[in-house]
Amino acid sequence: MKTRITELLGIKYPIFQGAMAWISYAPLVAAVSEAGGLGIIGGTIMTADMLRDEIHKVRDLTDKPFAVNIISLSPWINEILEMLVEEQVLLATYGTGNPRKIIERLKPGGVMSFPVVPTPETAKRAQDDGADGVIVSGMEGGGHVGGLSTMIAVPQARDIVDLPLVAAGGIGDSRGMVAAFALGAEGVQMGTRFICTEEAACHVNAKDFILRSGPTDTLVTGNITGLPVRCLKNRMSLTFHEMETTGKSKEEMAFFGGGKMKQSFQDGDIEDGSVMAGQICGMINDIPKVADLMKNMVTGLGEVLEKVQGVLELNRNN
Ligand SMILES: Cc1cc2nc3c(=O)[nH]c(=O)nc-3n(C[C@H](O)[C@H](O)[C@H](O)COP(=O)(O)O)c2cc1C
Repeated sequence: MKTRITELLGIKYPIFQGAMAWISYAPLVAAVSEAGGLGIIGGTIMTADMLRDEIHKVRDLTDKPFAVNIISLSPWINEILEMLVEEQVLLATYGTGNPRKIIERLKPGGVMSFPVVPTPETAKRAQDDGADGVIVSGMEGGGHVGGLSTMIAVPQARDIVDLPLVAAGGIGDSRGMVAAFALGAEGVQMGTRFICTEEAACHVNAKDFILRSGPTDTLVTGNITGLPVRCLKNRMSLTFHEMETTGKSKEEMAFFGGGKMKQSFQDGDIEDGSVMAGQICGMINDIPKVADLMKNMVTGLGEVLEKVQGVLELNRNN
């Protein structure tokens, strides 16, 4: 498979494992990269030293390309940017904050930047700021979300941006990958699907909760705090939602929400912790090895394309 993404990053398949704080550590990242995709370390909760250690752990497990995910709001952002250049990391992705500040530091140091953006306009801004590629992320995805679906955001971003473009949000199998290509993407990023793999270093309770959940079992909280997050409905998210709708202050909500991801994904408390996940959870029914998941995605593409062609043929004959 060749797209501008595989060529630019030197990977076999244009499949990114979306960064996930508390989940995408070296074992998952290396497994995805070994299988031909791009593993991404969830570095937003790490200090520069912690992230450097994790980079070394990935390099001990694979010599394939991988990336890191950072956040410009981190108290350690300056040391982190310096360290990424020192370590000559291939690529950084980041979702929140000002991409220009990050690009200005990384680009001259030889580290590429792919901002994660929720709208066509922010994709265009990333291009104007000098990004090397862009990940356009729809609101059906897990974690922090914007207001547009993948179906809307990706083609409209494609229309105004020339950069290599990766689609994220609601992709979990070969059908989603073909759909993303049809919308104009040259690669896909999956988060929720990769949580349910053997190598994802998170608690089995969180994986099982995702397996049991359907597409209507997620909820977006945080619209009021300005950081909307898609997660599974449980006591934590429903309480948070109630706090939002009954006018609790931002401070009270921030205090209530603190530490809740670790509580679920690391400690296994799926009732009172925050289990971020996307609507694709309704299609996830197993916990495979990363290599098998990747193989099925790639080998399934032909069958999906045949089906699409079959539908088109049918229409032509009618
Ligand atoms: C549990 C969880 C944690 C996430 N953490 C991060 C993060 O730390 N940084 C980031 O840029 N995106 C994060 N994301 C978003 C993913 O990288 C990815 O873009 C998203 O999951 C894609 O949608 P999908 O869940 O439908 O596959 C997270 C997503 C989930 C489900």
